[in-house]
Amino acid sequence: MSEYSVSKYHDTSMIYEKLNKLMTLPIYGISKSGMDRYLNHFDKECKKSKEIISEAKKFIPGGVQHNLAFNLPFPIVMEKADGAYLWDADGNQYIDFLKAGGPIMLGNNYAPVREKVNEVINECGPVTGLFHEYEMKLAKEINRHLPSVEMFRMLGSGTESAMAAIRVARLASKKKKIIKMGGAYHGWSDQMVYGLHIPGTKGFEAHGIPGSCRKHTQEIYPNDIDTLKKNLSRNRLKGGTAAVIVEPMGPESGTRPLDKDYNEQVKELCEDYDVLLIFDEVVTFGRIVLSGAQGYFGIKPDLTVFGKVVAGGYPGAGGLGGRRDLMEHLAAGIEGGKKRAYVGGTLSASPLSCTAGYYTIKEIERTNACKKAGQAADRLTKGLGELIDTRELPYVAYNQGAICHLETVGAMFVKISYLKIRSVLKEIKARTHAMEEMGAAYMAEGIVTLAGSRMYTSLADTDEVIDDALVKFESVFDNIETREIFN
Ligand SMILES: Cc1ncc(COP(=O)(O)O)c(C=O)c1O
Repeated sequence: MSEYSVSKYHDTSMIYEKLNKLMTLPIYGISKSGMDRYLNHFDKECKKSKEIISEAKKFIPGGVQHNLAFNLPFPIVMEKADGAYLWDADGNQYIDFLKAGGPIMLGNNYAPVREKVNEVINECGPVTGLFHEYEMKLAKEINRHLPSVEMFRMLGSGTESAMAAIRVARLASKKKKIIKMGGAYHGWSDQMVYGLHIPGTKGFEAHGIPGSCRKHTQEIYPNDIDTLKKNLSRNRLKGGTAAVIVEPMGPESGTRPLDKDYNEQVKELCEDYDVLLIFDEVVTFGRIVLSGAQGYFGIKPDLTVFGKVVAGGYPGAGGLGGRRDLMEHLAAGIEGGKKRAYVGGTLSASPLSCTAGYYTIKEIERTNACKKAGQAADRLTKGLGELIDTRELPYVAYNQGAICHLETVGAMFVKISYLKIRSVLKEIKARTHAMEEMGAAYMAEGIVTLAGSRMYTSLADTDEVIDDALVKFESVFDNIETREIFN
């Protein structure tokens, strides 16, 4: 048994009250003089990063390959990772709260998993394309923790796994419509780049994707159960809904938190309308607890999407699991005459990813990593709350177990109005820039965050690490000044 990282469910209405207030105020961003000092720091202390990135720009679009990399003033090149820390090419040390975007639960470069992976690689290399025993061991281990996952198929990424979930749901239900929450991220497939980041934005970010690809995707506002019901009713008259897919802690890893009974209500509606429920547990599996958010809420979805922790930070981090009758639509191997949901991947379920996933789960359980990472996040949130209160800042800090949110500028909370689209776009731009500056300031003080507004914790985040991080956050908060959005 592994214990939850969540010690107490957040007060959702209080968080929204604070977020709504934040959005009525000017931006509390980094002052001009503070930003000049931070930019000067990067110029002086991160010379090698600057040099490598300017060369990389000649060969790599934008000079960087990860959407989560900070571009202000330039991406920092990392050379070493260990435990709670990262070190850049110039030797600067950082507290790592990015955790590679979530898969790192045991700390960076965790030796017991690495050693097992090395043993397997030494024996058979990273991939053979044929079955390896660890595939079975991993599937069994996942089933042990998540009883809803009667069967499991490993895939290359969370994106692929969400695609597979939708394909299976459509094949099994013979219906087409997929309902997601506005703001939620389920990877970058043609059908899921819809309503990203901000609810109501529909195809806003779907550049290069024909509208027909998202013809059967719908978004509903988080916590709005009535609209979900309306969509399900309306769809019933037009061919029906194949599935509702949710991030069970809220869109964008809980950036928009959910009422505690929301998932239960969604499950009930899915049953009433005979629609499949897909939980996207890419972030929550192994971070909330090893039984995922579904274990925490006590809900059995029909299908579960995996990523990140499922391969412990090693490549090939994806998978789909669920009810046997649904999963059997994925039967693989060279065999004719079957109507199956086509999925694949040359490097999916490699010995490397399966060994890494299997031992990561074992080690999370042995070390009680979820609970410890949750305690670290509780300490961080409490400390941030105190800093915010003492300085009378309008910022909002809360955590959902080992997922910590620090909303300072509300870039994802801009209200979408198509009638005032120019000013909406201007506001998004101003807030996003302020968020980038915030992220750069944290980085200059020695903290890596996710997009300047999220922190993932792990087993490696001891009280000392968190207290040190709080001192660094305090230094950033010493540089705040207000600025109007539209000037
Ligand atoms: C909830 C959720 N689903 C799906 C994905 C996509 O996973 P991947 O990046 O492995 O394609 C992510 C990635 O961040 C995610 O957070």
